[in-house]
Amino acid sequence: MGAVHAASRHQLNGHTRAHNIAVVGSGHVGTVMASGFASLGHHVVGIDRSEALVRALSDGEVPFHEDGLPDLVRDGVRSNRLRFTTSYADGVPKADFIFLAVDTPATPVGAADLRNIRAAAHSIAGSLNGTNPVIVNKSTSPIGTGETIEGIIRGKIAATRREPRIVSNPEFLRQGRAVFDFFNPDRIVIGSRSNRDARAVASLYQGLGGEIIITNLRTAEMIKYVANSFLATRISFINEVARLCDALGVEVDHVVAGIGHDERIGTHFFKPGIGFGGSCLPKDIAALRYMGEALGVSTPVLSAVQQVNQHQRTDAVRKLRSLLGSLDGKRIAVWGLTFKAQTEDTRESPAIDVMGLLLNEGAELRVYDPVVRQREQPRVPARIRDALVSDPLEAARGADALAILTDWSEFQTVPLAGLRSSMTGNVIFDGRNILDRTTAEDAGFVYVGVGRPHPAATPATRKAGAAA
Ligand code: UGA
Repeated sequence: MGAVHAASRHQLNGHTRAHNIAVVGSGHVGTVMASGFASLGHHVVGIDRSEALVRALSDGEVPFHEDGLPDLVRDGVRSNRLRFTTSYADGVPKADFIFLAVDTPATPVGAADLRNIRAAAHSIAGSLNGTNPVIVNKSTSPIGTGETIEGIIRGKIAATRREPRIVSNPEFLRQGRAVFDFFNPDRIVIGSRSNRDARAVASLYQGLGGEIIITNLRTAEMIKYVANSFLATRISFINEVARLCDALGVEVDHVVAGIGHDERIGTHFFKPGIGFGGSCLPKDIAALRYMGEALGVSTPVLSAVQQVNQHQRTDAVRKLRSLLGSLDGKRIAVWGLTFKAQTEDTRESPAIDVMGLLLNEGAELRVYDPVVRQREQPRVPARIRDALVSDPLEAARGADALAILTDWSEFQTVPLAGLRSSMTGNVIFDGRNILDRTTAEDAGFVYVGVGRPHPAATPATRKAGAAA
């Protein structure tokens, strides 16, 4: 894909030094970083505690869905610039830079769980062997984490009288587009006490473009939370507007076009739907709220963002209920199970929440997803996993309604006439606004999207019609 080609364009030129880089954590972010740096010409070792993952990656197999990543990993392994290990003692002492890319899941109260970061920092500290590399935190972690890592490393190198070299370098990669995003950053944020260390980290990205923003540790950490919280805020804002549009008989797509041409507003991240999910936005907004609460700072905007996001799920079910009468015993085909298209990740998936609510009201589901198969999916509840079928039309056969819950483009190419004839009913709830309403109606469907009201489901229009 294009991003991989971009990699070769950006290889180190003769004047730039190839560095030894260790990347701790071989999940989505860590593997993209490791293989991306290898493709830029650096020598990279990925460290992960999972032997199975290390074995798979060493064989050039990427056990998660990420466009372009398998090629990038294979190229890196073949060129001998990329390898993977479970051993800190193997990866750490030779490294000039050590990136931390471990996950920081949410605890039940919303605070980020720092156990993985602390454990990784202790393992690094225990393997330094007299070296003092730059330690770069890429994991999204609360403001002050850089100082925590600093404390752990300082404890270990105190005898050498050297200062730990800690840098925060938050990531802005989107799942499903992460390889493209690595090679095409719009900005690279680097926080450090030392300008020299910050510039050294900046030099690793040389040739990729994007604004370099150098700041202190805490500010870099904050930038990450503010970025994700603002993205979430935009989505909840447009979702609230979409609900008003539904009630008022207004087309949200036109509203977005009408405001988006104002360059202060723009159109990005303004797609209404059943809400945001994934392993980042929900967790980061909760963590920022928690940090505020801990300091006595109230965060009513963030709290409203979460509230609207939950509401989108129940609103999806309300729409289907109002179109079908009752949901009890109704057969509903569902397309899409993940938190968005281009990923097999089901963490905090709004689609799963909506399905849970439909099942609770007695609906029978048949579910199709382009990448999630019936194999072991511990995060997907069994009653949803058991409803999985391997073809979108098979899911729709005999259904009273179809609910589209993620925005895979392949859903747009399913022939609507064939879909209509395989269904018993004629209702489409388009929870991601990906179908063209007129085309769906021409094929005989009753179509309802989000902020794309169907006249029969629009109280304001009904009233206006009655008055006429
Ligand atoms: C997000 C950020 O976009 C990345 O910049 C960041 O690096 C990443 O989190 C992270 O912190 O690691 P990601 O979680 O991959 O990336 O997903 P997004 O593309 O941001 O989508 C998040 C959710 O919002 C999805 O459920 C998506 O369907 C929904 N969404 C997105 C909307 O409902 N409407 C939109 O207009 C855009």
